[in-house]
Amino acid sequence: MNELDSLAATARAAFAEARTPAELENAKAQFLGKSGRITELMKGMAALSVEEKKSRGAAINVAKQAIESALTDRRQQLADEELSQQLRAEALDVSLPGRRRIPGGLHPVSRTLERIEEIFSSMGFDVADGPEIESDWHSFTSLNNPPNHPARSMQDTFYVDLNGDDGIPYNLRPHTSPMQVRYAHQHIKKYAAEFAAAAADTTGTVKAPEIRVIAPGRTYRVDSDATHSPMFHQCEGLWLGENVSFKDLKVVFTDFCRTFFERDDLVLRFRPSFFPFTEPSAEIDIQFASGPLAGRWLEVSGSGQVHPNVVRNMGLDPERYIGFAFGMGPDRLTMLRYGVNDLRLFFDGDLRFLSQFQ
Ligand code: DAH
Repeated sequence: MNELDSLAATARAAFAEARTPAELENAKAQFLGKSGRITELMKGMAALSVEEKKSRGAAINVAKQAIESALTDRRQQLADEELSQQLRAEALDVSLPGRRRIPGGLHPVSRTLERIEEIFSSMGFDVADGPEIESDWHSFTSLNNPPNHPARSMQDTFYVDLNGDDGIPYNLRPHTSPMQVRYAHQHIKKYAAEFAAAAADTTGTVKAPEIRVIAPGRTYRVDSDATHSPMFHQCEGLWLGENVSFKDLKVVFTDFCRTFFERDDLVLRFRPSFFPFTEPSAEIDIQFASGPLAGRWLEVSGSGQVHPNVVRNMGLDPERYIGFAFGMGPDRLTMLRYGVNDLRLFFDGDLRFLSQFQ
């Protein structure tokens, strides 16, 4: 093996020893760099004759090309190794089971609220939403329940340390009834022309616009046991017009209960009661003819004919506007519909309980 062949062989061996691209570049410098072996050999040709330069130069070039091609091969080899190492490190096991997304669902009380809204919408009721932090006036006074009246103690209320611009205290609404007056005010403002035309009419031909609404939502009281929770739900109902009577309440509420429980044999009972904002007032009880609760009277709602003072606080004439209101408990309806005996289960957030309704 001549000297140039052995130089190429040495270079190939040095490249093969390089374990990383950086080591390889260092090895390259020894042979092809500025002061590398090949460059030295080139420099050494200065003293040769033209003829000798030609043949020596050609021979050195052959060696140089051999070294360069060994370098390229080794570079490629190292790059391939690095890639396959990376692929091995990042390998995915496609046979591993994926991360499952647990299907969500509606809370049972939300289902009830949706059903209530659907059923009353189909009977021409609007659905209204209102504030949970409510003024004392809306919660009580507007509903014929003046300050210091003993009827206020029917509800153990959360008072909020907050006074409005007018110095009026606020509370977490203990019921959805303030929505009666709030909605009436909004509705009268929205249909001002129609209400004014009806009010100005002396011929009795212009019909007064009706107010027909339900207002579901969260309510709050200082109360906690198996059937009471400090936060609970109510759904208010109000139908006011020129000639809306207790008969209409009975029809509407019977229809609602039969549709809600999907039971044609369900019967209702109106039991005399007291609420400041209605006169007369009644508790509504229902009874199933069959099933585990058959034969028992179950209270589902308060109700009554809207008190003239409340109609007046709405800004309407109680001689002309008459109607009914009710306030029911969607939580209780949910318990009855699904046979749940502890209200607190709804608000504990335990998925073992909640997932049974999906
Ligand atoms: N607001 C009453 C309560 O929380 C329920 C109620 C009773 C609402 C009679 C009404 C009604 O609208 O007419 O106990």
